[in-house]
Amino acid sequence: MAHVAVVTGGTRGIGRAICEALKEDGFTVVASYAGNDEKARAFTDETGIPAYKFDVGDHDATLAACEKIAAEVGPIDVVVNNAGITRDGTLLKMSYEDWEDVMRTNLGGCFNMAKATFAGMKDRKWGRIINIGSINGQAGQYGQVNYAAAKSGIHGFTKALAQEGARYGITVNAIAPGYIDTDMVAAVPENVLEKIVAKIPVGRLGKASEIARGVAFLASEDGAFVTGSTMSINGGQHMY
Ligand code: CAA
Repeated sequence: MAHVAVVTGGTRGIGRAICEALKEDGFTVVASYAGNDEKARAFTDETGIPAYKFDVGDHDATLAACEKIAAEVGPIDVVVNNAGITRDGTLLKMSYEDWEDVMRTNLGGCFNMAKATFAGMKDRKWGRIINIGSINGQAGQYGQVNYAAAKSGIHGFTKALAQEGARYGITVNAIAPGYIDTDMVAAVPENVLEKIVAKIPVGRLGKASEIARGVAFLASEDGAFVTGSTMSINGGQHMY
């Protein structure tokens, strides 16, 4: 039977590309989303992939949603922690709420999804947890103490959980995307983005599909010996 894969923040951007790649590779895919019902409906109409609405930053809501997905679709074997937000601003302009929202969603979401699914993966002796980190969690970024801290936290979370999962056939890995052509990057002021792109050796933004292929490899049987790793897909912007 096909493994069930849940992709958080799966209806748009990188998440959508991941859903499509995993579906193409034979997984039964479910997307989660937090906000726009209309966009989620359009996503389901276009891809045939169901979308469940819950806030990954809300611990109890995430546990309940994963139970519902398991009952309605099947036990969850693959989790892609992709849901993420930005609240950019220099420290002096950043509110506590900006800090808290980003930590809660980007890093807290990984904890909540793992808590909801790890025990089942352990029982079935097979699992894949793939966390979407960021170049900015590896290298830091002006105006992103919240996002860089959360993404850096994801890289630590990955290495720690990989050690716990290894004996149960659960691999835990991260992908660290660079600047990818998505709505999130489009929100960076044009003059700032131009300077960033000028520093990418490959000379362009990445495509969401280029991140998705990395996820598909880590989710596959071929990825069984890869755990605790971070795959940097960033056009050479940060060689780490
Ligand atoms: N290093 C040093 N100084 C910098 C700098 C940098 N990287 N960037 C800006 N500055 C300086 C500016 O030159 C400016 O100095 P002067 O006043 O002397 O000219 C000063 O800092 C203020 O800069 P801004 O005018 O940009 O400040 P702002 O308050 O209007 O905006 C900001 C700050 C919101 C952080 C804005 O710079 C910004 O949006 N930066 C982009 C942040 C970014 O890359 N976000 C990534 C989002 S996508 C993502 O996160 C996905 C992923 O995983 C890669």
